[in-house]
Amino acid sequence: MKRIPFQFTFFVCVVCQLFIPYLGSAQEKTNSIDAFHYTFQKKAIGSQGAVSSAHPLASIVGLSILKKGGNAFDAAIATQLALAVVYPVAGNIGGGGFLVGYTDKKKAITIDYREKAPSAASKNMYLDSLGNPLLNLSQNGHLASGVPGSVAGFFATHKYGKLSFKEIIQPAIDLAANGFAITASQAESFNEDRKEFLQYNTVIPVFVKTQPWKEGDTLIQKDLAATLIRIRDQGMKGFYEGETAELISSEMKRGNGLITKEDLKAYKAIEREPIQFDYKGHTIIGMPMPSSGGLLMKQMLKMIEDRHIEKLGFQTSASVQLMVEVERRAYADRAEFMGDQDYVKVPVQTLGSDAYLKLRMQDFITGKATPSTQIKPGNINPESEETTHLSVADQYGNAVSVTTTLNGGYGSKTVVGGGGFLLNNEMDDFTVKPGVPNMYGALGKEANAIAPGKRMLSSMSPTIVLKHNKPYLVVGTPGGTTIPTSVFQTIVNIIDFHQSPKDAVNNPKFHHQWLPDQVMIEHDFSKNIANALEEMGYKVQNRGEIGRTELIQMGWTHKKIKKIEAIGDYRGDDDAEAY
Ligand code: GLY
Repeated sequence: MKRIPFQFTFFVCVVCQLFIPYLGSAQEKTNSIDAFHYTFQKKAIGSQGAVSSAHPLASIVGLSILKKGGNAFDAAIATQLALAVVYPVAGNIGGGGFLVGYTDKKKAITIDYREKAPSAASKNMYLDSLGNPLLNLSQNGHLASGVPGSVAGFFATHKYGKLSFKEIIQPAIDLAANGFAITASQAESFNEDRKEFLQYNTVIPVFVKTQPWKEGDTLIQKDLAATLIRIRDQGMKGFYEGETAELISSEMKRGNGLITKEDLKAYKAIEREPIQFDYKGHTIIGMPMPSSGGLLMKQMLKMIEDRHIEKLGFQTSASVQLMVEVERRAYADRAEFMGDQDYVKVPVQTLGSDAYLKLRMQDFITGKATPSTQIKPGNINPESEETTHLSVADQYGNAVSVTTTLNGGYGSKTVVGGGGFLLNNEMDDFTVKPGVPNMYGALGKEANAIAPGKRMLSSMSPTIVLKHNKPYLVVGTPGGTTIPTSVFQTIVNIIDFHQSPKDAVNNPKFHHQWLPDQVMIEHDFSKNIANALEEMGYKVQNRGEIGRTELIQMGWTHKKIKKIEAIGDYRGDDDAEAY
């Protein structure tokens, strides 16, 4: 792709509002990547490879790895590492994630690098002596963190890559050591979270400075660069043992957290059998437990499959009502049954079976809301849904869909002193107490109770869709519990409503998660349809944005890739690159 020169970009920017220049004080270049002059590109078309992620510099790093001869797996690792530097709100090495991949050998794989409860964790650790939930402790500071999985995930992924790990990690090291120009939204979010960064840290992190941050300021992260160098030079041990492990465990001791050196050393990423099913001539590949994403996708798509949604029309009151009711039913099952299958029995076969799903829709009444069971509804905090997704495709036919997270924005807000990286607050994704909603308003029961070494239930839904056994869509999004519904709607927009990738991503989304019993809609959702839903008995709730979807669509001739189109969601700083 030809990059747009700064002066020209500035001119174009005034007209189209899509390309925004950043001018940093330094003029450093990172591996020929200019970290101080970059633009937001929302759509990119190529035939050899593409990357779509939450930050232009991360997408550019991913594309540079593809151009260097790496494959989609190499580029996915490099993009995640770059996100850990340039998108600290969610990109991470102190969190965890899930990868769904499809290889050029036609093998579907998934890698689980979800965080784990520390060995000293216990079921009631976030309850006071009277049994009241202490949500501040599950959501902020040292005690909120699970044992990080991301670095183990990178090395588990590298098995499918072509380049050396040293080559893959170097751009992230350069970005951390030399700095980059931050975006306007990053400046705003560092300023907003200043108080929390001071409150939850034992060593003041680089995200805090005396004067307010502004667009174009340079962020240099020397401690993070040093940690990345240890990972480069020592591999997994550079994070899970030695100096980094010592820094994490010392941080935990200073802040009364639970993660020990033994917890870190014991952490392993796990390859798991994907959830795989057909939908109208396509094969959907999704993540199994401990993510609810793949099973929810199967339940929702299968519940609409024989109801001819394409005839109801895109976002008519009839099609939205149908989708809301399947979302409601799937999320009710999530709360009751889903959790880490290594610890609890999840009836995955039954919940995804045609017979069960037919039964589940027996009480569906066209034009009338089915009320959810009455239990305490949760409070949704839309600003906390800071997970991030990246989609990658290469010329060889490899496709990689990764969703990775610290959970809330900047996770626990705790940066490992001397290590320079944020730790997750993923413990809040466990059920702190049955009937008590987590930060996404999600409820859970025994299946998702805390236990030492257990992985907390997730909604992350990295997904690959095959058409004629070839990668067709690579898709995913952040958004907490709204993740599965956003991915569901994006897939339906393309397969059933025949929308362009750009429209499928950017069209307004809606969300129902059983409890609270309300349909959440984006600001640009049709007012007429919202009114029609209210007349059917739905409570409709306006909210900000839902999801920031990264989508790649691939077109094939018989055996060759004809076109790769990548879309970065208009909702954030997201960026798509292709060549
Ligand atoms: N932390 C959000 C999720 O895993 O669903």
